[in-house]
Amino acid sequence: MFSTTQKIGILGGGQLGKMLCLAAAEWDFKTCILDASASFPAGAVCSEFTEGDFNNYEDVMAFGADKDLITIEIEHVNTQALHDLEKAGKTVHPSPAVLNIIKDKGLQKQFYAHHGLPTSRFEVFENEKELVAAIDAGRWKLPLVQKTRTAGYDGKGVAILRTRADLDNKLLSGACLAEALVPLQTELAVVAARNADGDVTVFPAVEMEFHPEANLVEFLLCPARISPMIEAEAEALAERVINAFGVCGLLAVEMFLTPEGDLLINEVAPRPHNSGHHTIDSAVTSQYQQHLRGICNLPLGDTSQTTPAVMINLLGEPGFKGPVFYEGVEACLAMPGVHIHLYGKALTSPYRKMGHATITGATAEEAVAKARKVQNLLKVKSL
Ligand SMILES: Nc1ncnc2c1ncn2[C@@H]1O[C@H](COP(=O)(O)OP(=O)(O)OP(=O)(O)O)[C@@H](O)[C@H]1O
Ligand SMILES: [Mg+2]
Repeated sequence: MFSTTQKIGILGGGQLGKMLCLAAAEWDFKTCILDASASFPAGAVCSEFTEGDFNNYEDVMAFGADKDLITIEIEHVNTQALHDLEKAGKTVHPSPAVLNIIKDKGLQKQFYAHHGLPTSRFEVFENEKELVAAIDAGRWKLPLVQKTRTAGYDGKGVAILRTRADLDNKLLSGACLAEALVPLQTELAVVAARNADGDVTVFPAVEMEFHPEANLVEFLLCPARISPMIEAEAEALAERVINAFGVCGLLAVEMFLTPEGDLLINEVAPRPHNSGHHTIDSAVTSQYQQHLRGICNLPLGDTSQTTPAVMINLLGEPGFKGPVFYEGVEACLAMPGVHIHLYGKALTSPYRKMGHATITGATAEEAVAKARKVQNLLKVKSL
């Protein structure tokens, strides 16, 4: 439904919430944010800010009471409250039932296995001791990937265990899962969208390159450097995954491409995603507007890429902590096709996501070359 008077409640006021509010403002949609502090990125651009804890049942219930539609920008929220709000007649997208599966990497992997969706071999454990016992018993061999079942993000909660010594130093404690270590040719993400009518669209695949130290996606390329056949397979897989979950709004599907050309699902996020930032500046429809179209059951927009693009996260420089200072912005703005997005976080710290830049070019090579220049010029520091 297209309505400029309905109130859209968003759990989470970080950069994804901020960019969602900016897209909503184009259509004069009213956005209301729930998060700990109005000084967070979305605070400056939403229609209404409620200070509270999106993990607290009462806070979410009170927040939802006068909203027409509720969505999220982070999946670690109180789903019991979302479930009760849904029961009370509120529209909630993504649905709390799906959120419960996605929040838990164990349940998420079981979902793929159950639906015959390709993913790496895995096993779920009550705690890390059980995992070690499974290794001792020869059921699992090193190397393997250990992940905590809940609350992981940005590579935290992921340990690659290669040697027996890693079992002493790197082992994560608590409920976890083991995954086969997949040989990677590259990592891809496809952002899919669906509305309540069941229409589905996918954005072209993006190729992710990781920062070696911070374990964060640092460099993202669209179109991805893959064959048209793999591109079509990746898009078709994302479509299968969003239909299996049946979510409304966005579902970002992170995938591994193996040297043999197989695609395996790594994990999904039912919200705007880092790999879709570039769509603001290089696609007909941005992922943020597409999320709004999906959750409001509006016709989904054209996902075509208008120009090759590279997205880089602007991370806090190691060695700097405190009030933020952006070095080299003018020099970057002097270059055509450089789009800078700053999230408005007052304090920087090493590798904190402070903003991003989308760099477009006539060809992928030109965009990559320009992106490397931006990476060298633009530094997030503290005075
Ligand atoms: N089974 C695997 N085989 C090989 N590499 C893996 C595997 N699982 C994870 N990785 C590597 O670790 C990275 C982070 O894993 P994952 O996406 O599960 O964690 P996350 O903390 O949710 O990350 P993010 O928030 O950055 O998406 C992956 O992008 C990939 O580089
Ligand atoms: Mg991930």
